Parts: sequence; structure tokens; C-alpha cells
Amino acid sequence: MRLLFAFGAVFLSFLPGTLSTKQVPVINGIAGGVPNTDKLLVKGETVSPTVTTPGRLRVVENSGVCETTPGVYQASGYGDLTSTQSIWFWFFAARKNPDTAPLALWFNGGPGSSSMIGLFQEHGPCRITNDSSTVVLNPNSWNTEANVLYIDQPVGVGFSHGDTVVGTSQEAASDVWKFLQIFFADARFAKYQPNPLALWTESYGGHYGPTFAAYFLKQNIAIDAGTVSGKKLNLKVLGIGNGITDPLNQYYGYIVYAGSNPYHMLASSSAISSANSSWSSPGGCKDQITSCYNGGSESICTEAQSYCNALILYLLGRNWDLYDVRQRNPDIYPPDFSTYINSVRTKIGAEVIWNQSNTTVYTNFAFAGDWMRNSAPDLEYVINSGVRTLIYDGDADFIVNYVGVESMVDALQSQFTSAYHSQAWTPYEVHGQVTGQYKAAGTFAYLRIYGAGHEVPAYTIGNLGYGEAALQFFNQITSGNNLTSTCNGPCVAARSSSRTSLSIDTVSFVAQVFLLLVLSRSCLTSLMD
Ligand SMILES: *[C@@H]1O[C@H](CO)[C@@H](O)[C@H](O)[C@H]1NC(C)=O
Ligand SMILES: *[C@@H]1O[C@H](CO)[C@@H](O)[C@H](O)[C@H]1NC(C)=O
Ligand SMILES: *[C@@H]1O[C@H](CO)[C@@H](O)[C@H](O)[C@H]1NC(C)=O
Ligand SMILES: *[C@@H]1O[C@H](CO)[C@@H](O)[C@H](O)[C@H]1NC(C)=O
Ligand SMILES: *[C@@H]1O[C@H](CO)[C@@H](O)[C@H](O)[C@H]1NC(C)=O
Repeated sequence: MRLLFAFGAVFLSFLPGTLSTKQVPVINGIAGGVPNTDKLLVKGETVSPTVTTPGRLRVVENSGVCETTPGVYQASGYGDLTSTQSIWFWFFAARKNPDTAPLALWFNGGPGSSSMIGLFQEHGPCRITNDSSTVVLNPNSWNTEANVLYIDQPVGVGFSHGDTVVGTSQEAASDVWKFLQIFFADARFAKYQPNPLALWTESYGGHYGPTFAAYFLKQNIAIDAGTVSGKKLNLKVLGIGNGITDPLNQYYGYIVYAGSNPYHMLASSSAISSANSSWSSPGGCKDQITSCYNGGSESICTEAQSYCNALILYLLGRNWDLYDVRQRNPDIYPPDFSTYINSVRTKIGAEVIWNQSNTTVYTNFAFAGDWMRNSAPDLEYVINSGVRTLIYDGDADFIVNYVGVESMVDALQSQFTSAYHSQAWTPYEVHGQVTGQYKAAGTFAYLRIYGAGHEVPAYTIGNLGYGEAALQFFNQITSGNNLTSTCNGPCVAARSSSRTSLSIDTVSFVAQVFLLLVLSRSCLTSLMD
């Protein structure tokens, strides 16, 4: 591994352009690389003032930051797991009917990335402006119809601070569960515990989501059995955007996507064939991930991460923004908000300087070999437990591209697998705009979003607003419903089937236009509800 690394570093020092660190840290020039150090266990970072209240929340209510819609409650602060481990949260009540609305949790990935990324760049009540100077209210915020709880985890990430010892998704799950016990024990938030709980996440959340959800469900079973004491979590929904879940089924997707995607080739044919041979040659990426899956040690899995990310992921993606292949590096969109968030830090009760990504946490995960482990069995368990699950992917993202994610989804073995495989793609329309295509079976669905990068809600699609398409699928799934096109869904499904039947030459073009008008009118009516 060390050898490879040196090779990678030398090789990459010839590269043009700067790769920006976004959700996945760039280590020695390689996105998702492995540092040349040992596991870093950082004990008790000193924070001033350090008055923690283990087992309880410390809260600032209605700071006035970000959510400025009159009458909408918000709270931010810490849940202290111990006297030296504090988890940062930011809660926004739903703009409509908060008492009965579901509660959605949001986690960004990394590992080591702050969930404030989702808040300010993707789907929070406000969005950072392009010049990074301020924020504007977001009409497509996910708290429109849901209560949303953003959590920085594990300890060490974003505004969370203290003993930084978590290095696996499993350990992270247990801390998040403990945090939620503290959250629901608080008189201000206890009322949300019976509401449907949804877990939404992205990117490395392809591991976090299935691991956390499966852990929550198993804790519920243990509570019923009397072996664990605590409050049950009413988990009903899991949503994962552009997630790395099953590397063995996803890594070949880099090679396919680099040569063929809706935009342009990302690398030369010779780079693609070199990556392809790094994938399939004996002892190569595929073999290494396979060894990792088959009970491989931490170091086998770490080495697989180092090898595959240098010689496949990064080799093929480095000429473009890994998170939006339509752009060259450095791509400043979505805009940086670190100056802004640090400027409001004391108002919201945050106690440390915020950084979007924590390399200590990232390094701990890298050395635990967590990246290359398989989270598909947990995902299957969650789906089979009846938790409504949506996997979605923006098609302009390379780092967790749809080719790999669709291979992962196709390989899932769940109660809905055969029904899923028999489905044809259905267009997903938002207010009449085609935004992607999906397949669904039972309570499972997969949705490919056109024209969106890694952070799907950060993009506009067609004539829709920022995050408008994402808000629609978020609301549908979080409220326990299937994906349904609006206007053109009823509208388009109706339109295309009517087209087929109407074109049996008895009905005139004029009648079709009339039908479209009626359909768009009924759509408008439903929009104004
Ligand atoms: C912000 O920047 C993005 C990416 O460059 C661009 O597409 C978008 O139009 C800009 N938005 C505004 C409001 O200027
Ligand atoms: C990362 O976490 C460690 C341990 O909590 C902390 O000492 C360090 O300041 C953090 N680094 C960044 C960049 O946030
Ligand atoms: C990778 O190589 C195999 C043969 O070893 C070939 O069948 C496959 O088409 C190649 N894949 C790509 C995407 O070039
Ligand atoms: C975040 O951490 C990185 C790496 O340690 C550092 O270069 C950067 O300046 C930090 N950003 C902020 C806003 O503190
Ligand atoms: C969702 O679709 C499935 C078929 O895929 C159907 O069985 C189910 O009743 C639908 N659920 C809702 C809430 O509409």
C-alpha cells in the first residue's frame, strides 16, 4: 500500500488544476485516498466553555439564523453523549403542521463530512448564495412538510466535538442512536417520537444509511425483548442519494461511466483500459474488494480503498469535477459557506470552529477498512423489514455514479427483487418537467435524476427551481407514498397512454391539445392546494 501510495503521489503531482475537497477528502492528491499515518484517536479536545450536561441537550431556540419564515420553530445545540463527547444538531420544525409531520434525519457522508453541507448547499431552509456572502430563504426546503434534524456525526465532525474515537459505520450508528435517545428525552422534542421517522443521507451515507437503519430496527427488537432499555425509533423511511453501499458491485461502474455517460468521455481510452485492468487483473481491485468482503482484515480493506481509489476512481475522474462531470476543476459550485457559518457560530450556540471535513475522522474510517465493506446486507434487511426505501442518484456525478449504484440496486436480494427486475423505467416528472426515470416495487424504489451532480437538491433541472425536484421525491417518500409524477405523471402517464390510444386516428390533434390543456389545468389546481 505504501508503495502504491508513493506511486500515486508522484504520478498525481503532474496533474493540472486543483481538485477541490468536497465531501470526500483529497489525501496526497487522491480523492478517497488513504493517509500515510496510523489510526488517530484524538482524546478530549478542550473546548471553552466546556460545560457539558451528559445525557441531556443544550439548546439555543429560535436563533433567527437561516429559517426566517415567521412562526417556524428552530433549535440548535448539543446532545452530550458523555462529558467529553458532544454531538451537534440543528432542528427545523416543518413549515406546515409540525406536530403531525414526519421527522427526517439528515446525514452527509465523507466519512468526516458535516451535515451542514446538506443544510446550506442542498435542502435546508436557507441556501448559501453564489458569492458565499449570505443566505437566501429556500422555498424548496425539506422542512416544508417535514420536521428536519441535521446531525453532525461522528464526534469530531463539523460542530461536534470531543473524544474522536469512532472509525466504523457500526460505531457511528450506536452513537447516533444514543444521541436520539437524548433528543427524544427532551421535553421540547418528545412529541416527535411517535411521528414517522425518516433517515435521509448521501454519499458515504450509502454505508451510514443501511447501517444506522438496521441498527435502529435491531435496537427496537432488543427493547421489546427487554435486553436494551430505551425509546423505540419509529423508523419508516430510508433515503440514500449517490451512495456507496456495495463497492464490489459499484467500482466497475467507474470504468463504464468514464467511457460512456450522458455528457462526455471523462478519460482517454488508454486510461480507461488501464483502470479496467486494475479492476480485473489478478490481485487487482476486484480481487481485493472480494477479500475484504470475505472476512478480510482491516488492512486488507484499507489497501483495497487505497488501490482502487488511486488506480480507478481518481485516475478516471481527475480531469473533471468528480461531483459534477459537466464542470472542470476547480468547480466552485455548490458555493463554500465556511465563512458564513463561522460568522453565525455563536448565535446558534456552536462551540468550535466549523470545518466541512475532518481528516482525523476520515483517517480513522480509512484505517478501519470501513469504505470497502459491504452494506448491502443491512440495506436488504431494512427493505425486508418494511421500511420504505428510495435510492436515488444524480446522473452528472462521477464519484458515486449511477452506473455503479444501479449495479448495486440490481444485485440486491430483497422481497421486492423479482418485481423490481420486471419493471420498465417510468419517467419521473415534476410539475410537468421530466427530471429522471425510476423503477419501483412494493416499498422500494430507485430514481435516476437527470442533470444533477452529487448533491442532487443543489441543482436546477429544466425550468424548475433549485431543489424543486428533490423536494417532490423527498415529500412523497417521507410521507409514506410511492413516487408519482406530478402534472405529467398523472399528466404524462395519462398523456402518453392517451397518446397511444388517441392516435388510433379517431381523435384529432385539436382534441389532444385540449386534453393537454385540461391536464395542465388540473395540475395547476393541485399545485395550489
Ligand atoms: C450560481 O452558480 C451556478 C454555477 O455556476 C449557476 O449555474 C447559477 O446560475 C448561479 N446562480 C445564480 C442565482 O446566479
Ligand atoms: C477534527 O477532529 C479533531 C478531533 O476532534 C479535532 O482536534 C480537529 O480540530 C478537527 N479538525 C478539523 C479540521 O475540524
Ligand atoms: C474491460 O475489459 C474486459 C475484458 O477484460 C472487457 O470485456 C470490457 O468490455 C472492458 N470494459 C470496459 C468498460 O472497457
Ligand atoms: C478546514 O481544514 C482544512 C484542513 O485542515 C484547512 O486547510 C482549512 O483551512 C480549514 N477550514 C476552515 C474554515 O477552518
Ligand atoms: C405503491 O405501489 C405498490 C406497487 O408497486 C402498491 O402495491 C402500493 O399499494 C402503492 N402504495 C401506495 C401508498 O400507493
